[in-house]
Amino acid sequence: MSTVSVIPPVVTRKKVTTLTFRQKKERAEPISMLTAYDYSTALVMDQVGIDSILVGDSLGMVVLGYENTLPVTMEEMLHHCRAVSRGAKSSLLVGDMPFMSYQVSTEEAVRNAGRFLQNGGMDCVKLEGGRERLAAIRAIIQAGIPVMGHLGLTPQSVHLLGGFRAQGKTAAAAKRLLEDALMLEEAGCFAIVLESVPTQLAEYISSKLSIPTIGIGAGAGCDGQVLVSPDMLGMFDRFTPKFVKKYVDLHAGMEKAFVDYMEDVQTHQFPGAEQSIFMDAGEWQEFLKNVQSQPGSGD
Ligand code: KIV
Repeated sequence: MSTVSVIPPVVTRKKVTTLTFRQKKERAEPISMLTAYDYSTALVMDQVGIDSILVGDSLGMVVLGYENTLPVTMEEMLHHCRAVSRGAKSSLLVGDMPFMSYQVSTEEAVRNAGRFLQNGGMDCVKLEGGRERLAAIRAIIQAGIPVMGHLGLTPQSVHLLGGFRAQGKTAAAAKRLLEDALMLEEAGCFAIVLESVPTQLAEYISSKLSIPTIGIGAGAGCDGQVLVSPDMLGMFDRFTPKFVKKYVDLHAGMEKAFVDYMEDVQTHQFPGAEQSIFMDAGEWQEFLKNVQSQPGSGD
């Protein structure tokens, strides 16, 4: 039997909202989320129907080449948010608040969250942390901005956590994580990302919340899943977390394309006639006649 790959038709979708997230959880329909940082990737994700696009501060590591997410600034985030928002019209757009944009005071947190909507074209924001972030979360929501929480491995606390390691693995840590999730729900978060936590715990937390959980390295019991797109595309090979599934090896594909191109240039295979522009023969003759008959042309 021949296998034919079917490209999903491009249909104009209804805008996905935070309410859609809640309805999907009620209907037990899994939520799909991916990160994007540029216009053309966002365009494809939006066209195939990804529910939500996160402009993650993973930008710092997978696009800007920083060691971790800590150096990422508001300006860098907003620059990439604007590009994504130009490409995606239907997916719910989530802007990730960078390190130190919401920790100093609730006023700064609200002002910076507002910039994601006003200057970045985002629909809502995400920020990391549990009970210690309740005041900021409440203030942002009070300003009319939906907030997605983020618990478990929170990369902006990498130094406090002692590295990029799974969280909630002991009974006490699991209990604290559950309490944090309930507090975030109570504070008004519309969804919570659970990163690098044991599968049983993520499933248990998901069953105790009425808002959806979006897992990354948190097993199949979450209400939705998110992956960092350069990871799942096999583009970022500095390291690959255990929970990543590579859907394609773009790194190898790009390597081959770049080497082929280099060889084509060196051997004059590129550009060929198909990639070249030609002048009408008559115009060309006319041009030669004109330039050759000019005094000083040497012809
Ligand atoms: O920055 C990011 O990409 C994230 C995801 C890992 C959820 O926060």
